[in-house]
Amino acid sequence: MKNLRNYKVNCKKVLFRADLNVPVLDGIITDPSRILAIKSSIENLILNKNKIFILAHFGRPKGEVIEKYSLKFILSSLSEILNFEKIHFLQHLQEENINKKIDEMNPGEVCLVENIRFEKREEKIDWDFAKNISSLFDVYVNDAFSASHRNHTSIIGFAKYIPAVAGNHLMQEIENINAFLENSKKPNLAIVGGSKISTKINLLNNLIQQFNCVVIGGAMANTFLFSKDITVGKSLVEKDLVDVAKDIQKKANQLNCKLILPSDVICGKSIEDKAPIECDINDISQDYMILDLGTKTTAFINQEVQNSKMVLWNGPVGAFEHKPYDKATNKIALNIKQNAEKLGINALAGGGDTVSSIKKANAEDGFDYISNAGGAFLEWLEGNQSPGVIALRENNLS
Ligand code: 3PG
Repeated sequence: MKNLRNYKVNCKKVLFRADLNVPVLDGIITDPSRILAIKSSIENLILNKNKIFILAHFGRPKGEVIEKYSLKFILSSLSEILNFEKIHFLQHLQEENINKKIDEMNPGEVCLVENIRFEKREEKIDWDFAKNISSLFDVYVNDAFSASHRNHTSIIGFAKYIPAVAGNHLMQEIENINAFLENSKKPNLAIVGGSKISTKINLLNNLIQQFNCVVIGGAMANTFLFSKDITVGKSLVEKDLVDVAKDIQKKANQLNCKLILPSDVICGKSIEDKAPIECDINDISQDYMILDLGTKTTAFINQEVQNSKMVLWNGPVGAFEHKPYDKATNKIALNIKQNAEKLGINALAGGGDTVSSIKKANAEDGFDYISNAGGAFLEWLEGNQSPGVIALRENNLS
């Protein structure tokens, strides 16, 4: 696969796919990791006097121009992080405007293109559009591993017509995740949390085949508990997936994979309830909902972590954005931080919420690698190659 280490991109017009879908709260970027992620590739391309057009999406405007999804807000952070005073902006990805902008730009300058998802021909792959736009450029660079699971024009389209090169961050993601998956140190343990089983059925089915122990936390554990006839009160349950939960438990058993479900929990009357109660899993009242793991379960998981040589984590185990329901997630993150080096545990984490919770707990140090990808990370773990990575691999233009 061509990448910026083995393929020189000098004095070219470059279409650069980034993932600038950053978390924002009240207009403030709460985690700039995805901007930082492209810094190395962009610096390389600037140094080599290329004219760089950054394409990215923000939110899901679905082909409509919706002001709140404009990428203009990111310009100042982009220029600060890239340490580059002037960044051009291109409103419309149209031939005439692109050519005008290319003429205006000096070699080594950067132009951010408005949210590519304002374009109707983005999500519905449009080969004519891809051909037309790529004819105005020399090289396509994909540095957006976290968006490469999408079959979108800016991910797979341009690679059909011009040389396509992997960016440094995309390479880093693939190399680190693959190194972890190829590492066969046992015993190994996976922690899977988050709200829904529906998004993680394939992942769970895959993990129970490869891991000695799989911990199920977060709201998705409720469906498993419900499938065992445990009363879960007002907790979120995917009733239509009860059979899937039963099937996963049966298969895990056959495969000798230890499946850990909560044995005690922290409950509240709602997610806003600031006076939670802790109870055994068999004592949940009808008017309460499960919002975090209990003390005994958390201690048990932490012991299992310490007995493992490899830990994979995707999804917080409680409603961590709403204090005090972040306790179990924090304790697990800190346990990994405190013991990874001491006990020789290799740890990998990925997924937007997982990364935020590890950062909130200040526990990044405990992990060999933290992926900034969400859906793309999951699909990669499930064994699916991202369409964006396949497009790069299959590109033999030079
Ligand atoms: C993400 O945030 O995981 C990526 O930017 C992909 O976004 P999407 O799920 O809207 O395609």
